[in-house]
Amino acid sequence: MAATRARTCYKDPMKVDGKDMRTIWVEADGKSVGIIDQRYLPHEFVTRRLNTVADAVLAIKTMQVRGAPLIGVAAAYGVWLAMHADASDEALMIAYAALFTARPTAINLKWALDEMNAAVRNQPREKRAVIALRRANEIAEQDITINQAIGRHGLKLIEDIAARKNGERVNVLTHCNAGWLATVDWGTATAPIYLAHDKGVAVHVFADETRPRNQGASLTAWELGQHGVPHTVIPDNTGGHLMQHGLVDLVIVGADRVTAQGDVCNKIGTYLKALAARDNKLPFYVALPSPTIDFTLSDGLAEIPIEQRAASEVACMTGKTADGRVVSVQVVPDGSAVANYGFDVTPARLVTGLITERGVIAANRAALAAAFPERVQTR
Ligand code: MRU
Repeated sequence: MAATRARTCYKDPMKVDGKDMRTIWVEADGKSVGIIDQRYLPHEFVTRRLNTVADAVLAIKTMQVRGAPLIGVAAAYGVWLAMHADASDEALMIAYAALFTARPTAINLKWALDEMNAAVRNQPREKRAVIALRRANEIAEQDITINQAIGRHGLKLIEDIAARKNGERVNVLTHCNAGWLATVDWGTATAPIYLAHDKGVAVHVFADETRPRNQGASLTAWELGQHGVPHTVIPDNTGGHLMQHGLVDLVIVGADRVTAQGDVCNKIGTYLKALAARDNKLPFYVALPSPTIDFTLSDGLAEIPIEQRAASEVACMTGKTADGRVVSVQVVPDGSAVANYGFDVTPARLVTGLITERGVIAANRAALAAAFPERVQTR
């Protein structure tokens, strides 16, 4: 019975109010791209149409779409929109540059742009739009396939813990949103959780709220709820306490960039969870698709560019009032300085394992190179 349910689940993409849904799609007009505008979740479900490469750049910059894999796919479709309007070399170059600078930390953006550039640049102009669309669609489909594989490998980790606990519920702590909203479908950190849940394993998720933008509270909690996965939203500082009291079995987070030596860059606050997990002898796993690996970098702390975003994201919070209005309020005194670093780096030594599409591997240079030999580069 459990196996049948799991198989059904493989076929079905994530659902919103029971309806099949992805985060990004080609619209029926064949010339624009649809997205879920994630800025409005969880209070409103809004979709938006991207008609131009400028729309795609803005969508990435303003986090209408966000999450490393989805940023990459949105950029790929952005190149298609550019080629649809003007298939010249110059337009390709301008589109690449504009999309590349939309957000600095997630390497999936550059990976996808390089894939698109390679697919298109030596092709005759009249074929470029068709080829770009085909390649962007492939990148989107590949994201789903990769996430399903991550799910299968991560499922084993959850099942092993469930077996050790004699079927008692497995408590997973996650940070930010590395769920299906951060990808095309399934998510990375959430894929093993969805598979476990669908297979009948008792699994419960502690979702860090993830200030300042609250992707955990707004997005992870929403999508887990849509899938019926039991979850509890916790303030960011609660994880250590839960771990000390035996209330967390494992941590699974996503990644925006993983270096050749296995350092992990992810949403700000991830490092503190890794430290707390280490102090409490708990497994700390990072789920990532291979396009998140940057084989050109080694030392994550020294080399990964960390995005700094607007002060208003820290100074203000958005939420729903008792009478149902969505408003933004200021939570710091007028005139206080604020800092808004988007990401931090967890050194490889704190990572128990990397859950990739090719299995769970150690966070070190040798294991990464062995798992993805075709991606290894010499500097
Ligand atoms: O700033 P965001 O919302 O784009 O940050 C997202 C994250 O940090 C995710 O954990 C990461 O992109 C992995 S998504 C599978």
